[in-house]
Amino acid sequence: MHSIEVFRQYEGTHWKISDIDFAAIDKTRVKPEYLTLVKSAVMGESNVIAAVHGFLNEFPDDYDFSSFAVVWGYQEVQHHYAFTAYLNALGEHIPYSAVASMRAPYDPGTRPAATLATNVISELTVNTVYKAVAKWVDEPVLQVLLKNASLDEAHHAREFIHYTKKRLDEHPDELASVLETVYFYTADDRIKHPVGIFKDGLEELSGHETIDTGFEFFLDNVAGDDGLDELQDKIRRAFSGITGIPMSSNSQVRRALAEAIS
Ligand SMILES: [Fe+2]
Ligand SMILES: [Fe+2]
Repeated sequence: MHSIEVFRQYEGTHWKISDIDFAAIDKTRVKPEYLTLVKSAVMGESNVIAAVHGFLNEFPDDYDFSSFAVVWGYQEVQHHYAFTAYLNALGEHIPYSAVASMRAPYDPGTRPAATLATNVISELTVNTVYKAVAKWVDEPVLQVLLKNASLDEAHHAREFIHYTKKRLDEHPDELASVLETVYFYTADDRIKHPVGIFKDGLEELSGHETIDTGFEFFLDNVAGDDGLDELQDKIRRAFSGITGIPMSSNSQVRRALAEAIS
């Protein structure tokens, strides 16, 4: 089982919340926008429960992937708790009602391969954002947290790529659903992330940071002019690798989709 290999690799790269010295936070360097970003990260990471629930519902016939989903979930819970610990060390809190509103499971994707593809995109996106924000912030403890989480997200992307490829090898009829997903998430002039798409407009979130608050801030202040294009390119390249179909532009994705459904 691939998930056993993953588990053993993660044992080697695993970090602990107790390794982070929250007492060493340099409060003089913490700017209000850092708190906005960290709150946004907590809200994004807290969706792990909905995602694991959705995976276990959608892949009852795949023990290996389901095991990976649980291992993955542990790391995402850790991200949620680590970012929360950072906020708490600064006397900041997110109301439980906001986090709890993230609990409901995700509905199944159009096809299981599309669900996996969605997660490739979300991991690549969060990996890119955390990595860039880690360089941008000027507070050492937050830098460490963001670097740690960003590396985890890169590993997660790698595994979701593995499972998407495997699913498509076994279910080639699901290709169109994958291409449709790539097109949906990379065709606009903004960062689209499943948490923002599926958990938009919840009453409990009004007036609170959401994951999209962080993405908007990232694009406006951190990413630079080419940041969004670079991210969307990275996503398309990953799917070229998965499918073997060249996808260096949005029109190529559209063409590939048209061919897959014809
Ligand atoms: Fe995460
Ligand atoms: Fe992740």
